[in-house]
Amino acid sequence: MSDKKQTHHHPDTRLGRTADRPYWIWMSSIFIRALHQVGAAVFLATFLLPGHPALPRTYLVLAAVTGMLLMTTEMLRHRQLLREPAGLTTLVKLVLMGIAVHGWLPPVPTILAAFVLAAFFAHAPKHIRHLRLF
Ligand code: HEM
Repeated sequence: MSDKKQTHHHPDTRLGRTADRPYWIWMSSIFIRALHQVGAAVFLATFLLPGHPALPRTYLVLAAVTGMLLMTTEMLRHRQLLREPAGLTTLVKLVLMGIAVHGWLPPVPTILAAFVLAAFFAHAPKHIRHLRLF
C-alpha cells in the first residue's frame, strides 16, 4: 500500500486556492510547528497529569505566539484557509479551549478533544485538509 497512488496533475477545483510563498517562510514554518508542539504538549500535560500542575507562562506564550505565526504562514500558502478543514478546525480548537478554560464543559476531555482534532487535521491527507467546503 502506498499513499502516493497514481498522481494526477490536473488542478483540483475542490481544493482551496494556493499561492507561492518564499522558501525561507516554508522552512521557518516547519521549525515554528515544532515549537508549537512543545507548547501544546505542555499545555495538554497540565490538564492530564494528576494534581493539575500550573501551566508555566512561558509555555502558554510559546503555544499562543507560535500558533498565531503558524496561522499566518499557512495562510500565505493556503489563501482560502478559513474555508477549509485545516483553518476551520483551528478555530474550533480555539473555541473548545475557551469553553474548557471557562468550565462550560469538563476541561480534561474538552482539551483532549481539541488536541486530537488539531493533530488529526494537521496530518490528514490534502484532499481532506484543504478541501474547499464553501
Ligand atoms: C493562540 C493559540 C493557538 C493558535 C492560534 C493555534 C494555531 C494552530 C495552527 C495554525 C496550527 C497548524 C494547523 C495545520 O497545520 O493544519 C496548529 C497546530 C496544532 N495545535 Fe495549535 N494553536 C494555538 C494553541 C494551541 C494549544 C494551546 C494547543 C494545545 C492543546 C494546540 C495544539 C495543536 C496541535 C496538537 C497541533 C497539531 C500539530 C502537528 O501535529 O503538526 N494549539 N495550531
